[in-house]
Amino acid sequence: MPTLPPGYTLRPVDDEFVPELLAFDRLVFPNGLDDETADRWPYPVPVDRSLAVDAPDGTLAAMHGSYEFTLNVPGATVPCAGLTWVGVHPAHRRRGLLRAMIDAHLRRSTARGEPVSALFAAEAAIYGRFGYGSAADDVRISAPRRAPLRPVPGSAELTVRFGSPDAGDTERLDAVHRAAVAGRPGAVTRDSAVLRQLRVFDPSGARHGGEPLRLATVPDHDGRLRGYALLRRHEAWEPAGPRSTVTVHEIAALDAAAAHRLWSFLLDLDLTWRVDSPRLAVDDPVLQLLVDRRATTPQLSDNLWLRLVDLPAALSARTYRAPLDLVLEVADSLVEQNAGRWRLTVGPTGSAEVTSTAAAADLALDIRELGAAYLGGRSLRALADTGLIDERTAGAVDAATVAFMSPRAPLCDWVF
Ligand SMILES: CC(C)(COP(=O)(O)OP(=O)(O)OC[C@H]1O[C@@H](n2cnc3c(N)ncnc32)[C@H](O)[C@@H]1OP(=O)(O)O)[C@@H](O)C(=O)NCCC(=O)NCCS
Repeated sequence: MPTLPPGYTLRPVDDEFVPELLAFDRLVFPNGLDDETADRWPYPVPVDRSLAVDAPDGTLAAMHGSYEFTLNVPGATVPCAGLTWVGVHPAHRRRGLLRAMIDAHLRRSTARGEPVSALFAAEAAIYGRFGYGSAADDVRISAPRRAPLRPVPGSAELTVRFGSPDAGDTERLDAVHRAAVAGRPGAVTRDSAVLRQLRVFDPSGARHGGEPLRLATVPDHDGRLRGYALLRRHEAWEPAGPRSTVTVHEIAALDAAAAHRLWSFLLDLDLTWRVDSPRLAVDDPVLQLLVDRRATTPQLSDNLWLRLVDLPAALSARTYRAPLDLVLEVADSLVEQNAGRWRLTVGPTGSAEVTSTAAAADLALDIRELGAAYLGGRSLRALADTGLIDERTAGAVDAATVAFMSPRAPLCDWVF
């Protein structure tokens, strides 16, 4: 079990400590916010899920927290600890503080009954060593103005309203977002008032030269919201003409026509020449609708990272696409209860049973690879082809690959 270096102590925090956490975060992440803006920023992580590390001289050396999420997984939802606000003071780095904090995080997640943990990695090389697997990719596009889209029936009849979001919008936007991401593995909802407010929190010091946040909505004929986009334009004029850019912060739609209408609107705002998308699932509708996707220079990046904290609970919480009866030999250097041989049996309904076994293994792999495949967006076959999974029984990799895959690509569309 990793321990802190001599003289360092891990301790819980309370509400009184929040200003110190906020100030500390700015030492760790050079976000460029002015003091006034930074002081107004709410600390959205529950304090009872946050921990601090004190240095031997009593100053703050490190911190982390986690959200209590209900994570969408194939065919189900599962309690998830969303690791966040991980920071080590620049003067205390590379002496094992992160390793000790991860150990505490995994123990606390286990004690809370959260079978999985997820995170966004500030740097891709950090978290694999702790058993987190890269479980989803996202795509960002930069589309030229008027990039043509294939038509979708019903889109042209819809109208778009355009204005500024206000505090009264938070709940209705959230309702659309929840419905839009339902059934998308990897998606999490904003389950606290402060997280919902942060969606439209827009202090002038965080606009980086852009206009205030704008809201485009697509209402139904009876006024019910079918979709929305939160966006910001950055004004620019060049000798050749107006060159403003549009940055879309979030887009959610309940149906194909509303999604098409929103994108058609975003792609043809006057005075603009380019539209930068938020993180999109690799199967997002707009990627299918674009006539010339190449012209939008799609950029692929890692999205959610996922770790199985309680292997049997996690593997039996999701559903599978095909019957399966396999023994997995799993290595886990941090959570010893996960290490060993597990029999995964999937019945005709897709639900699974997971039991400890002494039988010979069909597949041998690290907990990291199981985390990568867990949301159904990463192919076990691809991991085996790169040598990361040892196939002991011929055919086991292909059978598991088919069973683990999700028809919808995983994505978490907001970075926590
Ligand atoms: C990244 C960060 C949390 C690491 O903390 P730390 O206390 O220095 O990490 P540790 O000393 O516990 O290192 C544990 C292991 O991770 C490795 N590691 C740490 N940071 C790494 C990085 N940025 N890239 C690659 N490896 C890294 C260490 O080399 C060490 O490797 P080992 O297992 O081979 O010994 C810290 O440097 C930091 O706060 N950086 C700025 C903010 C940030 O990126 N936070 C993460 C948000 S997701």
